Amino acid sequence: MNNIGVGKYLYLALVAKDFFRNILLYVKRRLIKRAIRSVTLTRHEYDEGAWQSIFAERAWESFDSLEDYVCAKNDSRKIVCLIDGKISKVTAGEYYRFRRDNLATLLSGWVDAQQELIELGCGYGINLFSLIGTAAQPKYMVGMDVSEKGLTAGGQIAGYFNIDNVEFLNIDLLDVNHKNMAIINGKTVFTYYCLEQLGNYMDQVLDNLIKAKPKRVIHIEPTREILDPSILLDLNSIIYSHSMDYPSTLIAGLKAREEVQELKILKIEKRVFAPTLRHYPAFIVWEPRESGS
Ligand SMILES: C[S@@+](CC[C@H](N)C(=O)[O-])C[C@H]1O[C@@H](n2cnc3c(N)ncnc32)[C@H](O)[C@@H]1O
Repeated sequence: MNNIGVGKYLYLALVAKDFFRNILLYVKRRLIKRAIRSVTLTRHEYDEGAWQSIFAERAWESFDSLEDYVCAKNDSRKIVCLIDGKISKVTAGEYYRFRRDNLATLLSGWVDAQQELIELGCGYGINLFSLIGTAAQPKYMVGMDVSEKGLTAGGQIAGYFNIDNVEFLNIDLLDVNHKNMAIINGKTVFTYYCLEQLGNYMDQVLDNLIKAKPKRVIHIEPTREILDPSILLDLNSIIYSHSMDYPSTLIAGLKAREEVQELKILKIEKRVFAPTLRHYPAFIVWEPRESGS
């Protein structure tokens, strides 16, 4: 990985600062509080936390266009982040523009513009809104999540900007009998930092996804399986991931199911981008196999 976005000593200083922060986080969350990533913790962090704030603040109402909202126009706070493997100091607005373009690049080639695209664990739909106006924009998009607050905020953002090709629906990826599971059948679906919340239920989620018979599944998800502890930046992410009790069995779970012919993995790739110096994802694509195919 090329990490020469900054000089060697600045690189070491920036990563070391984040590294010690993550060690402290690890001690506090895992050794003292013994926090386990459970359904209750996730609900607390999102439905009652981040999405409740998004919903209450209604930030979209201060933007004239969806693009300005998605790209956080005028957010001039400087952040130290990772862009294409390099440490970069940019404004938050510049990072969010990169995030949008990067998502469109990752999905293009794997998503059929003439078909429907579903995001599972979409939150308030920022990824789907990001795709609007890009080359990767599908004809119709469905955002699904367990958080009613996230879904309601997404619906209101769509209404505010007059977007009529996005809809938001409830789903619980842990419930194979959920009424909206059937919607996934035959569709291309993606997850973006959603399965990280469900790491302690990974087998259940993968089995439910396979049973739902999607056409293709794309994950943009962090997992320690792609990280190499001999690389300082990766080691930093490993400690952070442990501190948050994030998963490390997504790729192993997929490979085990590939062995028994339940699915075919088309791509696994480490992608080093994040608004911080940690927690970058793997880009994974797979398709379920019809039995015997
Ligand atoms: C880190 S957020 C990512 C949201 C969105 N993908 C994004 O990039 O902004 C994780 C999302 O997963 C959702 N989630 C957690 N457990 C879920 C479940 N069992 N079924 C569906 N969604 C779930 C949470 O409600 C939350 O919206």
